[in-house]
Amino acid sequence: MSPLVLRSARPEDLRAVELLLTAEGLPLQGVAEHLSQFLVAERGSAILAAGGLEVYGTSGLLRSLVVHPEAKGRGVGAELVQRLLERAAADGLRVLFLLTTTAAEYFPRFGFTRIDRTGLPPELHASEELRGACPASAVVMQRHIGR
Ligand SMILES: CC(C)(COP(=O)(O)OP(=O)(O)OC[C@H]1O[C@@H](n2cnc3c(N)ncnc32)[C@H](O)[C@@H]1OP(=O)(O)O)[C@@H](O)C(=O)NCCC(=O)NCCS
Repeated sequence: MSPLVLRSARPEDLRAVELLLTAEGLPLQGVAEHLSQFLVAERGSAILAAGGLEVYGTSGLLRSLVVHPEAKGRGVGAELVQRLLERAAADGLRVLFLLTTTAAEYFPRFGFTRIDRTGLPPELHASEELRGACPASAVVMQRHIGR
């Protein structure tokens, strides 16, 4: 089997990323707009995983982490999160947030902790994922960068 390669997303990856997200019931709002800050994992010509950042000043939103069922449980999600954390640090972000209804138990291993939704900084309210794409019941998590 050919290796799984992580790389920055390109405009032509949008449809494949959207298909992965749709299959897992994750929101598509804002994905096209922020695709340049997404990473994908590719085997051959198949996109098997994705995850991205939305950047608002020194705050960011980690979003759309998704792994195709055939690639789950092999550390692909973890590698994507690590690479997104590295990218966030390299881009000078101070703090990352995420919203999840499905994986609140997955992210603590990467240093994310739960916070109250009121702890989200005002600049993140520009995010389409935050503005209604994710239910108000979603768990909000935070991780500081570079400490
Ligand atoms: C969550 C997800 C990205 C993890 O990716 P992955 O490549 O399968 O995960 P990894 O191989 O890095 O890690 C596997 C570990 O995570 C755990 N895990 C996987 N999904 C989990 C979830 N939803 N909640 C809690 N733990 C989870 C596994 O039980 C496994 O635990 P172990 O290390 O103790 O054996 C993937 O399962 C997925 O696409 N889920 C559906 C979409 C989703 O919920 N995304 C998050 C949106 S914010």
